[in-house]
Amino acid sequence: MNNEINFNYKLMNKSIFRNFNKLLCKSKNTFIHHSQHYFTTSNNTNKNTNYTNNNKNNIANISNITNISEQYWQQQPLTYDSMAGVSEINQLDIIHTIKTLNSIPNISKMESVLELGAGIGRITFQALYKFFTIIDIVERNPNFIAEVKLTELKQNPKKIRKFICSSLEQFDIDLNTNSASNNINTNIKYDLIFIQWVLEYLTDDDLLSLLSKLKTVLNKEGEIVIKENVNNNTIFINDEGSTIRTINKYNNIFVNSGYKVVYSEKVDYNREDLYDIYCWRIKLL
Ligand SMILES: C[S@@+](CC[C@H](N)C(=O)[O-])C[C@H]1O[C@@H](n2cnc3c(N)ncnc32)[C@H](O)[C@@H]1O
Repeated sequence: MNNEINFNYKLMNKSIFRNFNKLLCKSKNTFIHHSQHYFTTSNNTNKNTNYTNNNKNNIANISNITNISEQYWQQQPLTYDSMAGVSEINQLDIIHTIKTLNSIPNISKMESVLELGAGIGRITFQALYKFFTIIDIVERNPNFIAEVKLTELKQNPKKIRKFICSSLEQFDIDLNTNSASNNINTNIKYDLIFIQWVLEYLTDDDLLSLLSKLKTVLNKEGEIVIKENVNNNTIFINDEGSTIRTINKYNNIFVNSGYKVVYSEKVDYNREDLYDIYCWRIKLL
C-alpha cells in the first residue's frame, strides 16, 4: 500500500507553472509557484507541470533527474532571489543561518567550511564569510561558479580556497582522489559542511553515498548544517527534477549514513504558502 501523497492536481484552484524555483508555495489544496517571472490564478491546470506522488513509476524515471535539474538551473538568473526562490526569503533565511551558526558550541574555533551546491554564493558571502577563514565550494553550474569568482574578486580579505565545478554525484568520487588540484582529497578535513536546497536534487542512494563519503573529510568534532524543504508526504517535482522528502526520510538517511542529529528545527519564515523548511545540525556518530 502506497502511503505517499495521492496528489491530484485537478483539486488545485490555482495553476502551477514551469520554471519552478526552490520555494514552492502551498496551502491546503492550493499550490502556488513563487516564480518571480509570472503568477496567475487561472483555474486551468498547466499540463506541462508535473507534480506527482513519489511512487515506483517515478523512481523508475530517476535516471533523468540529474539532467532535468541541471537544465533547470541553467535557465535560472544569477541572483540571490533566484537561489532562495522568492525575494522576501533571502534576508530572513540568512538571518536564520547566522543564528544557527552562532548556536554551534565551538563555532569560534572553527576555521574551514565546505559549501555544497553553493549556487552564486548567496550563503558563502552573506553568512559563511562571517565565521570562517577557509571556504571551499562545490557547484555543478559553471556560470554560477564564474559568478562566485567575480564576487570573490571584490572581497578583502579573500577566503575561498577552492571553486569546484562538479555535481555532488561526481564530487562523491572526487573525494577519494588526490591527483587533480581542483578536487578534495581525504587529507582535507572541514570543521563545517553547509548544504542548503540541494539535497532534494539527489536520489536517496546518491544522498546516502554522498553523506558516507563526507565522513572522510569532516573533522571529528565537525558538523554538517543542512536546510531543506520538507513535506508530510514525499512529493516529486518532475519539472525541476527534485524530491521534497519527509522529515523522517531525512532523519533515516542521516542515521543510515553514520550521523547523529544534534539539533533540528522547523524554520519559520511566517509563510504558510511555502513548503516547510527544516534545519538540521548533524555530527559523526
Ligand atoms: C536552490 S539553489 C541553492 C543554492 C544555494 N545553496 C543557496 O541556498 O543559495 C540549488 C543549487 O544546487 C545546484 N545543484 C543542483 N543539483 C546539483 C547537483 N547534483 N550537484 C551539484 N549542484 C547541484 C544548482 O546548480 C543550484 O546552484
